[in-house]
Amino acid sequence: MKSRKVAAAVRGRRTMDGAGVRLTRVFGFGDTASFDPFLLLDAFGSDKAEEYIAGFPWHPHRGIETVTYMLEGRVRHGDSMGNSGEIGPGDLQWMTAGSGIIHEEMPQVSPRGVHGFQLWVNLPKSHKMSDPAYRGVLASELPHVPVEGGEVLVIAGSFGGVAGPIADIVRSPTYLDLHLDSGASLELDAPAGETAFLYVYAGSLSSGGAEEAGAGSGLLFGEGDSVSVAAGALGARCIFFRGRPLGESVAWRGPIVMNTEAELDEAFDEIRRGSFVKKRGVDRISKS
Ligand code: CO
Repeated sequence: MKSRKVAAAVRGRRTMDGAGVRLTRVFGFGDTASFDPFLLLDAFGSDKAEEYIAGFPWHPHRGIETVTYMLEGRVRHGDSMGNSGEIGPGDLQWMTAGSGIIHEEMPQVSPRGVHGFQLWVNLPKSHKMSDPAYRGVLASELPHVPVEGGEVLVIAGSFGGVAGPIADIVRSPTYLDLHLDSGASLELDAPAGETAFLYVYAGSLSSGGAEEAGAGSGLLFGEGDSVSVAAGALGARCIFFRGRPLGESVAWRGPIVMNTEAELDEAFDEIRRGSFVKKRGVDRISKS
């Protein structure tokens, strides 16, 4: 096993998105090659309602998957397939936009604020226009795999022979949430050729020969086939994900990511004409 070194330490940028939601964009500024097949990671987290309550009103996506993982608080959602509901602490939503979905994501006021992540996973050219799919997973459905000095929650892929609930994704990415006590260490598979990234959201950890990484730090790994992490004095919580790069051209405009500019133009034309959504349950496109 060749343990991966850190290729880049990433500090996110504070920014605003949606109708006025404060968040940290960990990556997703157009450097698509380094993170391929992942496009964007937002860490949202605030205890102040005014920083999240405006939410993400109805907006389209095409060509990608959006993965929302809640740590605290609740987000009400609805989409053009007719899915609707609330995702609460520890719940997850893996939405394959495929050929097109229109949805809204509205945080609800809660005393502990709203904290979580949204990861965008790119779809290969062959699947960008596939039918949209929605998968809602409750916190109670995520396996907790015990490790020495902690546990690993398996969202997608598998860990320690235990598969997570998200298993039908085209590029089979792995997505884990690691909870480690002070001083605990862990080795994770990260097969050669895959892009591997972790983001610390509480405590601190050491990994890949880099300086100790505290909450709010991201680590992009270089080549190798495993990743070792060692929790700091206060323990560590981090999300870890990996996946095979697509190696395809990326044309990205707002919430839509295709392979060519012409495909983007077509998508935005269709939004204007009201023909964007190809497969729906409920028609929620504004015709005004
Ligand atoms: Co969205």
